Amino acid sequence: MRRIIRLRELLLALAALCSLAAVGWATPLAAWFDQQRTPRLSTPAGWPEPAYDATQNPVTTAGFELGRRLFYDTRLSKDGTVACSSCHQQFAAFAHYDHRLSHGLNGANGTRNAPGLANLAWQRDFMWDGGITHLELQPLAPLGNPVEMGETLDGVLAKLRADPQYVAQFERAFGAAGNDGQLIDSQRFLRALSQFLATMISADSRYDRHVAGREKFSAEEQRGLVAFREHCASCHTEPLFTDHEYRSDGVANDDIGRALITGKQQDRGLFRVPSLRNIAQTAPYMHDGRFDTLEQVIAHYRGGIAPAALTDPKLQKAASLSDAEATDLLAFLQTLSDDRFLHDRRFAEAAAR
Ligand code: HEC
Ligand code: HEC
Repeated sequence: MRRIIRLRELLLALAALCSLAAVGWATPLAAWFDQQRTPRLSTPAGWPEPAYDATQNPVTTAGFELGRRLFYDTRLSKDGTVACSSCHQQFAAFAHYDHRLSHGLNGANGTRNAPGLANLAWQRDFMWDGGITHLELQPLAPLGNPVEMGETLDGVLAKLRADPQYVAQFERAFGAAGNDGQLIDSQRFLRALSQFLATMISADSRYDRHVAGREKFSAEEQRGLVAFREHCASCHTEPLFTDHEYRSDGVANDDIGRALITGKQQDRGLFRVPSLRNIAQTAPYMHDGRFDTLEQVIAHYRGGIAPAALTDPKLQKAASLSDAEATDLLAFLQTLSDDRFLHDRRFAEAAAR
């Protein structure tokens, strides 16, 4: 491991030298090395085009690094104790490890479980109920939520403007002054965070390598994939493992879900079908974090759904798993973990890299 790190640092130093040397071959080489530092918003093979239109906010090294710093900065919260990364931890695929419900300022609890963050650029809308419809607006929700970060946008911007390091970083990322004549304004703040969020792409799990023909599944994993396609994929559709719709999977509490946003009676109890990528890392599960293990989730699909809620034929299919299929399915779900993403130091806090 240490050797690998040293090699990487050596290569980065070489890249820096190349860009300084400015000889003919240095430019493409420097661009390649730059990508080792800054991920780009590129579409993995076989995926649809992203929903996020990055033409207004192209990812740059300076913008991405600024976004990462903001993501890990506790000053975004009112009392300086909570960062985005407090509830979205990399080792937990950017979910909140061991926390059933969102846990923010002053130990206060929210009402929902923090979802993992990956492939957000492919999401049309966000939150369990789809209440946010643009990636760039997403950070405003936790920021202003009194039980999450409890801060105002003006409050954050004032703190950032008073920090000479941030002033220099905003200038490097976005140039002299924004629309309102301010170097640090809300649009730039949100766009920097979006550059970080949009490039969190997870597409290198064992499942992906299997589909690409680069790795072979065990017999059990292969049977699990078949069972998954039969019983689960109508909602958790490949390759993103969601059909982007709002549905009920039979988990009910007094959270009315999608109906909070649409006000429609028929949307009561519907939630956004979540992706299952890195699902082994993001426990606890469901919008209210009620299940601690994937075994419990599968047991729920098999027998825990109230008969009255089993009206959806897709759910009936999920409920018809056999014992053997349930075991195989568990093995398959583990193949959705993307170790490279979970340990990608480009997404880690700068100080820890
Ligand atoms: C106190 C915990 C907490 C903090 C702090 C927090 N989040 Fe979240 N995050 C959540 C919860 C809980 C949800 C789901 C909320 C819901 O659906 O109502 C969520 C949802 C999201 C989503 C939507 C994911 C999806 O799949 O729909 C994104 C993106 C996100 N957060 C990014 C951020 C960013 C960026 C910050 C910092 C500005 C941040 N979060 C701070 C708990 C937190
Ligand atoms: C009818 C559509 C539908 C089918 C079929 C379905 N799911 Fe789900 N699944 C959902 C919805 C909607 C949620 C979120 C519900 C909630 O939070 O209350 C969910 C949540 C989950 C979660 C928790 C995700 C998280 O981040 O907390 C797992 C794991 C899961 N499903 C696995 C499966 C498996 C395995 C199958 C097949 C046996 C399956 N699902 C079949 C719609 C479906």
